[in-house]
Amino acid sequence: MNSRKPFVAGNWKMHGDRAGNERLLSALVGSADAGLVAAVDVVVCPPFPYLAQAAAALGRSGIGLGAQNVASWENGAYTGEVSAAMLADLGCRWAIVGHSERRTLLGEDDSLVAAKGARALGAGLGAIVCIGETLEEREQERTEAVLARQIEALAPLAAQAREEQFVLAYEPVWAIGTGRTASPEQAQAAHAFIRARLAAVGFAQAARLRIVYGGSVKPSNARSLFSMPDIDGGLIGGASLSADDFMAIVRAAALAEG
Ligand code: PGA
Repeated sequence: MNSRKPFVAGNWKMHGDRAGNERLLSALVGSADAGLVAAVDVVVCPPFPYLAQAAAALGRSGIGLGAQNVASWENGAYTGEVSAAMLADLGCRWAIVGHSERRTLLGEDDSLVAAKGARALGAGLGAIVCIGETLEEREQERTEAVLARQIEALAPLAAQAREEQFVLAYEPVWAIGTGRTASPEQAQAAHAFIRARLAAVGFAQAARLRIVYGGSVKPSNARSLFSMPDIDGGLIGGASLSADDFMAIVRAAALAEG
């Protein structure tokens, strides 16, 4: 049993509307009892326009609020961008950076991801930094090389990242939204590698950082994944849109021994 507190975040992606969010948020608040939110860091990440709605609905439930992205600039003439300070002002405690959909669809590279992570940390937000290999990279046995490159780029964040504020999400791209999950053994191997690389590039606190798994996590597979020694929770896409499924995954994190 390690001492890292499990971390489960829901990434709603570009889904939802005010009425649907209201239902989802009130169901989450209704089932997040004090014991559960004390045992697991639970976070939801709605789209930007709904962050204020979510902040109000979550209130003092103990469920944290996060954004799905953040600008790499501090402030200024950057049309359409949202700064880390604005997110903090809205009540966010976290920002996801480097999600594979942004890396592939929007061309975000390793150095931009690191810059966004630095902005988030600089504004007092926690950073949920996503890394992971594509199917082609896995098949070419380049998984470790890709993860090592992505982690190397994060080295400038090592000194700034306090352990409770920096979460690494391992999300194999081939498992995101595909229904295809990495096996607990495959994920554990990647997580152990990631932890060792973080230490090697200067994260002195690597043993205490949460490394969470993302990619088709469901109530049925959560417990076996979260029971692996280096898997400290999950970043949940599709299943986070159902309060029942998401809370079942949170409970799995509370129960997992790992
Ligand atoms: P998924 O998405 O759970 O729908 O596979 C995970 C993610 O993209 O963070």
